Amino acid sequence: MTESINQQVKLARTPEGEPVPQDFEVAAGSVPEAGPGQVLCQTLFLSLDPYMRSQIAGRHISGAIKPGDVMLGETVSRVVSSHSDQFSPGDIVRCPGGWQQFSLHAPEALSRVSATDVALSNYLSVLGMPGLTAYAGLVWLAGPKAGDTVVVPAATGGVGAMVGQLARQRGCRVIGIAGGPEKCREAVEELGYDACIDRKAGDMAYLAAELDRLCPAGIDIYFDLVGGELLNQVSMRLAVGARVILCGIMSELNSAARSGGPHPALWIKARATVHGLVVYDFEPRREEFVAACLPAIRSGEIKPFEDCYVGLEQAPEAFCRLMRGENRGKVVIAVS
Ligand SMILES: NC(=O)c1ccc[n+]([C@@H]2O[C@H](COP(=O)([O-])OP(=O)(O)OC[C@H]3O[C@@H](n4cnc5c(N)ncnc54)[C@H](OP(=O)(O)O)[C@@H]3O)[C@@H](O)[C@H]2O)c1
Repeated sequence: MTESINQQVKLARTPEGEPVPQDFEVAAGSVPEAGPGQVLCQTLFLSLDPYMRSQIAGRHISGAIKPGDVMLGETVSRVVSSHSDQFSPGDIVRCPGGWQQFSLHAPEALSRVSATDVALSNYLSVLGMPGLTAYAGLVWLAGPKAGDTVVVPAATGGVGAMVGQLARQRGCRVIGIAGGPEKCREAVEELGYDACIDRKAGDMAYLAAELDRLCPAGIDIYFDLVGGELLNQVSMRLAVGARVILCGIMSELNSAARSGGPHPALWIKARATVHGLVVYDFEPRREEFVAACLPAIRSGEIKPFEDCYVGLEQAPEAFCRLMRGENRGKVVIAVS
């Protein structure tokens, strides 16, 4: 290995509201050396995710990031040197590498990627945490049936794009909600949604009227990624036997305030099953999920739909765009 500098991105200050690139700083650390039992990894791809907004606010279940800390994050990395007999230089692994070029790990923190004939960035998108979230929520918890009407907000994002494609694969009628005409076009033409409502084309009354028009027999599955008033509006339109997957609160992630939820009577009336989803609970089933999805990803039936930036120094701006809702798919940084 010839590199001596470990480019890193640190949190410079705790943002208030929407983050801006100045909340982060690019720093030059030194490349660590693997000690006994340790493995040194070089980051190939870094995943940027909305939960990082909660980490830097100090309110995420995975831990807090303080000013001066290197940002945390999942990576696909290559083993550079190893003092563990479980890994050798050249192995491709998933690991919590963070926003940096090089990271040191105990072997237990690494998992080998299952197959290297697909793009390695896919292990952070459709075959990674967002894919597992979508698969666990839709397939294992909601149990979609052909003909079900499934509504997916943030329809073209990391989780939403996979939920939409999995629901379509299972013969559901899939209605997306996305921000802007271009995202709505991509939802229908590239991801196979039956229709997509532009949340920016009108107010909440417009969105509600569109839901009435597109879901006349009610909503069987709602995969909630945004929370807020939309959850109320959808809850008023559930079909009997509906399943609601509570997964994300994107509409409120940049603010400390939290809105009230739907009235329970709406869920009682629909005999709804409401699941709170935390993807970490499904980690033991990750290989089952990868094996189930790999064929459709290899054949192109499921598209990765990634928003890829080149260079670690792009990460602050890419993250801020994600938190403004301007990403076009799963945000991935190609680091090395
Ligand atoms: N519970 C879990 O285990 C788990 C796991 C993974 C993700 N999540 C959560 O799921 C949600 C989606 O995650 P993701 O990685 O798939 O993100 P993403 O959808 O790729 O990106 C977020 C999207 O949210 C939409 N959005 C809706 N209202 C917004 C608002 N007020 N401000 C900004 N964006 C808004 C935007 O799309 P449009 O403009 O198209 O609406 C934006 O592109 C997040 O809340 C995340 O924390 C939870």
